[in-house]
Amino acid sequence: MAATDLRTIRFILNGEERSVAGAPPTTTVLEYLRRTERLTGTKEGCAEGDCGACTVLIAEPDGAGGLHRRAVNACIQFLPAMNGRAVETVEHLGRDGVHPLQQAMVEKHASQCGFCTPGFVMQLYAGWLTGAMSDRQSVKDLVAGNLCRCTGYGPIIDAGLELAACPVPDTAEADAGLATRLAEMEGKGVFAYEAAGGRWYAPTNVDDLADTYAAHPDAVLVAGATDVGLWVTKQHRDLPLIIDVSKVRDLTMVEERQDKLYLGAAVTHRMAREALSGVHPDLGEMLRRFAGYQIRNAGTVGGNIANGSPIGDLPPCLIALGSRLFLRKGDGIRAIALEDFFIDYGRQDREPGEFVAAVEVPRLADNQRFFAYKISKRFDSDISAVMAAFRLTIDGEIVSDARLAFGGMAGTPRRAPKAEAALIGRRFGEASVAAAMAALAEDFSPLTDMRASDSYRLKSAQNLLKRFQLEQAGEVTQRIASWGLSDIAEVA
Ligand SMILES: Cc1cc2nc3c(=O)[nH]c(=O)nc-3n(C[C@H](O)[C@H](O)[C@H](O)COP(=O)(O)OP(=O)(O)OC[C@H]3O[C@@H](n4cnc5c(N)ncnc54)[C@H](O)[C@@H]3O)c2cc1C
Ligand code: FES
Ligand code: FES
Repeated sequence: MAATDLRTIRFILNGEERSVAGAPPTTTVLEYLRRTERLTGTKEGCAEGDCGACTVLIAEPDGAGGLHRRAVNACIQFLPAMNGRAVETVEHLGRDGVHPLQQAMVEKHASQCGFCTPGFVMQLYAGWLTGAMSDRQSVKDLVAGNLCRCTGYGPIIDAGLELAACPVPDTAEADAGLATRLAEMEGKGVFAYEAAGGRWYAPTNVDDLADTYAAHPDAVLVAGATDVGLWVTKQHRDLPLIIDVSKVRDLTMVEERQDKLYLGAAVTHRMAREALSGVHPDLGEMLRRFAGYQIRNAGTVGGNIANGSPIGDLPPCLIALGSRLFLRKGDGIRAIALEDFFIDYGRQDREPGEFVAAVEVPRLADNQRFFAYKISKRFDSDISAVMAAFRLTIDGEIVSDARLAFGGMAGTPRRAPKAEAALIGRRFGEASVAAAMAALAEDFSPLTDMRASDSYRLKSAQNLLKRFQLEQAGEVTQRIASWGLSDIAEVA
């Protein structure tokens, strides 16, 4: 690997340039804002991406002369990742007087103790700027990752709707200027930063990533940091060497082909949702329930696969679809069936210095049927107890191929070979499904934990299969109701 000069972290904070040296690479954006800048409007509630009190807006060049804006949780974003990005906090929102959203929050009585308010405001503001806010449901979706303990969500949603009615200002010209400035601040080549015994690399193309990782196979890769951030804030782990893959442009690409979709490893869940909804609406719906907006704006497809979690939501869906995973080490690329990546709990088929590059997702053929559903205690922003995804190929009336994949049922995301065998070669109807439901008990011995008991998990998995059959038969036309705590709070 060519020698890389160390640099400072250059970014824009509330319209002003910053150049930071000396802060440990695992300093979070929240720590920096509150302790160094004394911008205490951004709050710390949970320090693990759950409450949204720390929401800030970040912007970066979109590659087309404009800016890509997104709200993220400052508590689990590392400061060096801000190099070449712009950060906006709640203090900046009121720079020209009270913002219409802040005014609406006052008029709708949407704040009581006020602790959550800056986070809600920044999240709604980001949703408005990015055109994600239209009707009541879209406002509810926007704040699914923000918690309020006092006000109840109704007045906050009402305030959001007031803002939704305001025209979004045209910032194209200013955005183009800022994009150029940010690109210049990001610098060329591999960004390298060092302080307090820790080092951070951020390559921007995949060859540099391959070289950097080959030279430092002991480094921790970080993408959206929605897992790795918690290793620092909750587990207090020391991460002396980090390689940030989130800026590797080749890995942020979505490529649409007629029969397949390619998602780069650093594609965020927000971007993946748009693409995967086109494969099947269930995937879009599942991703709507994947954490909240801020996490989906940061967390990546590659991170969700590489972390090997048995309760990750994407792997069962992608396995059921017959996806392949592309792994790269040095100059070598290999492709494996996604299910083969997950060897055992905490063990994946990935060598030192090898990284997840992309996933190939086949589209559904006309004779294929698909179903995906997430079971969690809360509708919004909750980790799955059971995630089920099924793809059947039906020729005539007979099932010629079955891929039934589950999360939360074993130490890895896994297929159900016995249940699949019970369906193949038979008509997809009551009898074959009953046999497959029984076979699921042989495929899996799920665990009991805080999310669900073993029997609940097995019963849910079996019943989801039954539901799929009933939906296919047209006996169930409505999806399980889309309501969550926020709706109850609103009624209350
Ligand atoms: C509040 C909250 C809610 C969440 N809700 C959900 C949910 O509903 N469903 C769900 O499935 N998950 C959920 N998660 C978990 C997490 O958001 C996802 O797993 C996310 O996809 C991780 O992606 P990331 O880019 O943030 O990964 P990171 O945190 O950056 O990395 C995760 C792991 O992957 C490795 N890694 C990252 N990129 C690569 C790569 N290209 N090659 C090799 N290794 C790599 C890292 O080294 C690390 O081991 C939640 C997390 C939080 C904090
Ligand atoms: S402090 Fe709770 S999400 Fe960041
Ligand atoms: S107003 Fe108190 S937590 Fe929301």
